[in-house]
Amino acid sequence: MNDLCTVILAAGQGTRMRSKLPKVTHLVAGMPMIAYVVEACRSFRAKRTLVIVGYQADSVEEALADEAVEFVCQPEQRGTAHALLYTREALTGFDGDLLVVSGDTPLLTSATLDGLLQAHREARALATVLTAEVAEPTGYGRIVRSARGELLRIVEELEATPQERQLHEINAGVYCFSALALFDALQAIRPSAVKGELYLPDAIALLRDRDGGVQACRASDPDEVRGVNTRADLAEIHRLLWRRAALRLLAEGVTILDPAHAYIGPFVRIGPDSILYPNVTLEGQTVIGEGTTIHSGCRIRNSTVGDDTVILDGCIIQESQIGDGCQVGPYAHLRPQATLRQRVKVGNFVEVKKSVIGEESKIPHLSYIGDTSIGERVNIGAGTITCNYDGFTKHQTVIEDDVFVGSNASLVAPISVGRGAIIAAGSTITEDVPANALAFGRAQQVNKTGFAATFRSKERKG
Ligand code: UD1
Ligand code: CA
Repeated sequence: MNDLCTVILAAGQGTRMRSKLPKVTHLVAGMPMIAYVVEACRSFRAKRTLVIVGYQADSVEEALADEAVEFVCQPEQRGTAHALLYTREALTGFDGDLLVVSGDTPLLTSATLDGLLQAHREARALATVLTAEVAEPTGYGRIVRSARGELLRIVEELEATPQERQLHEINAGVYCFSALALFDALQAIRPSAVKGELYLPDAIALLRDRDGGVQACRASDPDEVRGVNTRADLAEIHRLLWRRAALRLLAEGVTILDPAHAYIGPFVRIGPDSILYPNVTLEGQTVIGEGTTIHSGCRIRNSTVGDDTVILDGCIIQESQIGDGCQVGPYAHLRPQATLRQRVKVGNFVEVKKSVIGEESKIPHLSYIGDTSIGERVNIGAGTITCNYDGFTKHQTVIEDDVFVGSNASLVAPISVGRGAIIAAGSTITEDVPANALAFGRAQQVNKTGFAATFRSKERKG
């Protein structure tokens, strides 16, 4: 089998988006559009993956910072064929197959790419182009075939005759090429009459009559090949992607009360008998267990939630881990690296950051817990704050098992509270508390008998 390299086209600005950001960095369900394309290509374990960048190359590179890809710069964007020319040097000596994908087709699946690759290899073609029969072909290159159905060429919308515009088979912008044949053909591509750009689809007509020839491979799901050129396309992509995820989860035994208002990314996994209320957003690599209920208005990103947990309305949960049988919210904020073990309760208006909360501990109301380790069966009273920041550095708080913190305490870190200790309500704790001690950290109360009445009558006379 021939070696495989992948090339992803991502140098364009995306003028039709009317945006300062490069098109492929726009977020789709919380992830940059191009990350979906990289993900779809991942399963091929291609020898190399080259991403062609140009317009605001830095932001595209940043969007793919964690990926095993190489960047090639196309300093001026003079068309898709012009872009491919810049990979020539990086691919010197490579004579295998090139899988070329646009960075703006986030719904493509690896199954479809695999079909394209198989078809290409079976036919030993020089080029195989992915096509789709669509109801609304406007904006796409059209596939022109002979009377016998053979692929002849691809014509761009702008250059198409009125008859060609009637064609409903479109170019998906995804191709397999024999690398050597492609680089040969690129030499021969001339600027288009209308836009002056070098069009990659023109390679098809140039390779058609050569040994091996060209072919089209039709995608079974036309929605998959949708490109994003405008904000309207971006909205449409979201609609399709959310719908696809909702249908998958319904089939897997998840209750989604209103699938039209369930905003679930494609990589999210949810166990059976979980329930999603309307207007829940689940992004990135989020995993939800079985029998868990998520109420309206929650947004959960790159987080794990266990079984039989209830997330009440209006919570924001990011890069966090929640165990089984927990209750979170309403209106709780779990910031990155919040870990709630089993049966933890985090109540309303509580913010937790970079902290571990042990089994059966409770933080029911109005607290900030940051850079803290909380043991098991701890109760944190309403309004308690860990003062973790001195303006320069973040400091740790340690609260051991079975501690009871009264309401409205301030724990000034670094600080540790020993097992079984009690902290009096309203305390400001600046020194470590030994195990089983009672700590008061507040001014002594003074009652002046009758003083209020005397004060009032003086004021009235005066
Ligand atoms: C392209 C195809 C069209 C196809 C459609 C499918 C061409 C000429 N046309 O049109 O036949 O139906 O995709 O979605 O290829 N890019 C570069 N450098 C450039 C120009 C573009 O890297 O100089 C990148 C863009 O960033 C984008 C991709 O190539 O990711 C496609 O470019 P775009 O302008 O969106 O092409 P379309 O007009 O959609
Ligand atoms: Ca496009």
